[in-house]
Amino acid sequence: MKTLMAIAPSPRRGGNSDLLINEFCRAAEDAGWRIDLVRVNDLKIKPCQACDACAKDGRCIVQDDMQAIYSRVIESDAMVVASPITFGSVNAQLKAFIDRFQCWWHAKYNLKTPFIPDDAKHPGFFICVGAIKRDAFCENALLIVKVFFHNINHKLAGQIAFRGYDEKGEIAKDPEALAKAYQAGKDFIASIS
Ligand SMILES: Cc1cc2nc3c(=O)[nH]c(=O)nc-3n(C[C@H](O)[C@H](O)[C@H](O)COP(=O)(O)O)c2cc1C
Repeated sequence: MKTLMAIAPSPRRGGNSDLLINEFCRAAEDAGWRIDLVRVNDLKIKPCQACDACAKDGRCIVQDDMQAIYSRVIESDAMVVASPITFGSVNAQLKAFIDRFQCWWHAKYNLKTPFIPDDAKHPGFFICVGAIKRDAFCENALLIVKVFFHNINHKLAGQIAFRGYDEKGEIAKDPEALAKAYQAGKDFIASIS
């Protein structure tokens, strides 16, 4: 059985990005995939300390909940990330999570031994949701996720952006938005199966 790693960084359980990633993952489950859900806000993640200890072997020396994440990424087959927009970017929880892959950057570029081989990149998908109807915020968040995917040898296979949703769970009142997330999950899985 293939595994989709689902990165959900919002602190709001049942919030808008949560509801969207759930729909995306439901489509993957319907296609026979297993979901490995990571609720980033529930993890203890210290921001990268730029100690560069990882430059020698690609391993992070900070002992916290990130240590269990690295092998889960390697063992999964694809990744979906769903971020709320905060201050025109991905949220802080997701950015701390991303920065802790600096060890993978060293593994790929300095040590030339990426944890996921260059010729076996995993597919990735990005979902973002914000309150303000302005494209620049989601474009900014997308650029950050593109850099993340590139450094961890994932290739962006698609993305969807939702704007104009602010209250917790408000997107549930919009069946079209949820259907769009489900369809995106279905198409993503079909394109990589
Ligand atoms: C600290 C903070 C900053 C925010 N900044 C923005 C912003 O810059 N642009 C925007 O469109 N929405 C912004 N929002 C609104 C959230 O993106 C919006 O409420 C979203 O639906 C939250 O998703 P969630 O329910 O999955 O957490 C902000 C929310 C918070 C809490």
